[in-house]
Amino acid sequence: MEKDRIKWNKRFESQDSYLGNRPSPFLADQISRIRRLTPGNKALDVACGEGRNSIFLAKNGYRVTGLDISEVGLAKAAARAGMEGVTVDFLRVDLDDYEIGERYDLILNFNFLLRKLIPQQVRALNPGGVLLFDTIMESPQLLESHNPAYLLGRGELVRLFEKYDGEVLFAEESESGEMPTARLLLRKNPATT
Ligand SMILES: C[S@@+](CC[C@H](N)C(=O)[O-])C[C@H]1O[C@@H](n2cnc3c(N)ncnc32)[C@H](O)[C@@H]1O
Repeated sequence: MEKDRIKWNKRFESQDSYLGNRPSPFLADQISRIRRLTPGNKALDVACGEGRNSIFLAKNGYRVTGLDISEVGLAKAAARAGMEGVTVDFLRVDLDDYEIGERYDLILNFNFLLRKLIPQQVRALNPGGVLLFDTIMESPQLLESHNPAYLLGRGELVRLFEKYDGEVLFAEESESGEMPTARLLLRKNPATT
């Protein structure tokens, strides 16, 4: 949506690095397991922002496509990838009306929630492919300042994924830190098509 593009462009312009250059802790914690599990090295980072997770994956041997609506975030991401000596295919798209056309061995969804995209994300996994999802949950304070559509309910993340042909290998809800978050690792059934 145009208003998301404007909002995120402003945020990314306002600071050197809005979410920092380090990868998300959940991704960093899980990378050895992910490398063991993923059937190949083709990865998609949904709503990649300034690219911290895309760049980390590229450094770990993945061929990464990063999608985001903010050209400011993507330009910073591409510059940093260049500085770090890795190549990532960063594309500007509006995920609100985007179809994931290819298949991937690994899909990341960090700090972003678009419920209608989830069936596509699972469909876009190769057999045995892995989806990592990590985003914020509602709390009384966050509901004052955030659009509830962008916040997970308690217990919702696991429910969103239980109907798919795959195994949830990790799921947790955490209250620590500034914001409550939920995270999950799904592996699509290797025998599926
Ligand atoms: C909190 S940031 C997360 C960035 C990244 N995943 C990370 O954890 O570092 C949310 C991202 O969602 C992107 N975004 C918001 N609405 C979008 C849309 N409709 N299509 C594509 N990207 C969108 C924003 O531009 C922003 O980069």
